[in-house]
Amino acid sequence: MNHPIFAANWKMNHGPSAARAFMKTFLTQYPRHYDRTVIFFPPAASIETVDRELENRPDILVGAQNIHWEDQGAFTGEISGPIARDAGATVVLVGHSERRHVFGETNEDTARKCAAAERAGLRPMLCVGEKLDEREAGKTKKVVVRQLRAGFSKLAQIDSFNPLVAYEPVWAIGTGRNATPDDASSIHGVIRAELRAIVGDRARAIPVLYGGSVNAGNAPSLLAASDVDGVLVGGASLDTGSWISIVRTRMTAEIPAGELASDE
Ligand code: 13P
Repeated sequence: MNHPIFAANWKMNHGPSAARAFMKTFLTQYPRHYDRTVIFFPPAASIETVDRELENRPDILVGAQNIHWEDQGAFTGEISGPIARDAGATVVLVGHSERRHVFGETNEDTARKCAAAERAGLRPMLCVGEKLDEREAGKTKKVVVRQLRAGFSKLAQIDSFNPLVAYEPVWAIGTGRNATPDDASSIHGVIRAELRAIVGDRARAIPVLYGGSVNAGNAPSLLAASDVDGVLVGGASLDTGSWISIVRTRMTAEIPAGELASDE
């Protein structure tokens, strides 16, 4: 498995004051780690605040939850790749299911946003995942592959590009119903194969995270599943206590087999 990544998507929670308080508590309890990376995706107004708290912490990154596909202009209410970068972001979520299903973002939009991220020097974390009806109709692989191909279709430098992918089944987001480690592994394998078709052997180095009702109880078994390189966490990342338990997850090699089985 790649170096594991623990990503917190705060969605529309934690403005600058709450973000500052969170980071102060978190950093006192989470010293520098060399075996894992933590990424925070705060709301746009809190990116700079989180970034400011992160001096001398190369093991923690900050990202934006969304950017516009244009670099600047008359787009009231939007933020661009260069603005997010200027605020301190080095990563950006693209095509999160709430962007797709609440705000009507299409595969074409995600392609333009990944290209905008590339121009701005931001690593996109392209989110893919099927809805419940698509899963029940046996279309999971088809949907995920289509989202992946489309999202990376407009990149100028696909060969030197350094993206991340998050598999978030829509039916698992905020529902308390996570995919089983085997389900996640199977779809992550499909994603990895598709990445190989796009970028060749470099696909192995592209982190593929799982998201959807991850918590401190299920994180160890999900992270132990093959091809799962990290977790993208919503609700359970909002509270310092539960987030600290998740980022301290012991990796497979450290967990006795019996204990791992009881986490499932
Ligand atoms: P929950 O962890 O709240 O299910 O949210 C998942 C998610 O959407 C992370 O991007």
